[in-house]
Amino acid sequence: MAPTHTNDPRLDGKVALVTGGSRGIGFGIVKAFAAAGAQVMMTSRKADALAAAAGEIDGEIAWHAGHAGRPEDIEACVDRTLERFGRIDVLVNNAATNPYAGPTIDVDVARWDKTFETNVRGPLLWTQQAWRKGMRENGGSVINISSVGGLSTNPVLGVYDVTKAALIHLTKQLAAELAPSVRVNAIAPGLIKTDFARMLWEGDRGEQVARSYPLRRLGEVEDIASGALFLAADTASWMTGQTLVFDGGGLIGFPR
Ligand SMILES: NC(=O)c1ccc[n+]([C@@H]2O[C@H](COP(=O)([O-])OP(=O)(O)OC[C@H]3O[C@@H](n4cnc5c(N)ncnc54)[C@H](OP(=O)(O)O)[C@@H]3O)[C@@H](O)[C@H]2O)c1
Repeated sequence: MAPTHTNDPRLDGKVALVTGGSRGIGFGIVKAFAAAGAQVMMTSRKADALAAAAGEIDGEIAWHAGHAGRPEDIEACVDRTLERFGRIDVLVNNAATNPYAGPTIDVDVARWDKTFETNVRGPLLWTQQAWRKGMRENGGSVINISSVGGLSTNPVLGVYDVTKAALIHLTKQLAAELAPSVRVNAIAPGLIKTDFARMLWEGDRGEQVARSYPLRRLGEVEDIASGALFLAADTASWMTGQTLVFDGGGLIGFPR
């Protein structure tokens, strides 16, 4: 395959599908991709929120409501994307859930399975659909939104973190299997100011975390969106199977 080199992360003529696209990090990625010239399909469970979010963006945006872990919803959304835009060049597996907080040793089967359904099985099924319905022949880039939690341990978020660690390994495995036509990479964010993580950053807790980060602030969705754009575009054309960490330096530790 001929190398493509550019320092300009453009997505003109490309079609991107972003799960969990209606708010937070996913919506930030949708905005960045649309601004870079992509046609974007955004999906999440609530139709009203998707319609409102799509209305905020200039560019060619479509939306489809469904559950990111359920095979029939995934297939319907991929088919809708192909009907509307004809192809999928970039898939962002961003939707995730965290229904359990507590020691991993005490988790019940229902919440363990629910976490894996959305956070691990979902990204596999989305990637299968995209691969089988065009990426295998046309090439593409898959981006899995993991977490720094997948690289570490935590007293109460262990189950979620196990799914995020599994997603990092799934990224490596699929990168090896889908090369050379499709690149598969992951992003591991630290604490980002979204609804999902509100209990971790609202009030004094956020300031404490920010002080513990060498770069002394929490993340914004734009910090992650710029990484996703780099991975989606030909700027990352020689990169696959890797995980980019955006965490204000939190993983290297030290300041308190
Ligand atoms: N925020 C952080 O600090 C942080 C840190 C590390 C990693 N992450 C990861 O970043 C990703 C995005 O998180 P976020 O903070 O942006 O969350 P968020 O603000 O809560 O947004 C989550 C998005 O996913 C959708 N969603 C949730 N469950 C879904 C499901 N079962 N099926 C389909 N869509 C679903 C939501 O819409 P509906 O509710 O309408 O479905 C929404 O669009 C996740 O993978 C998360 O694990 C976040």
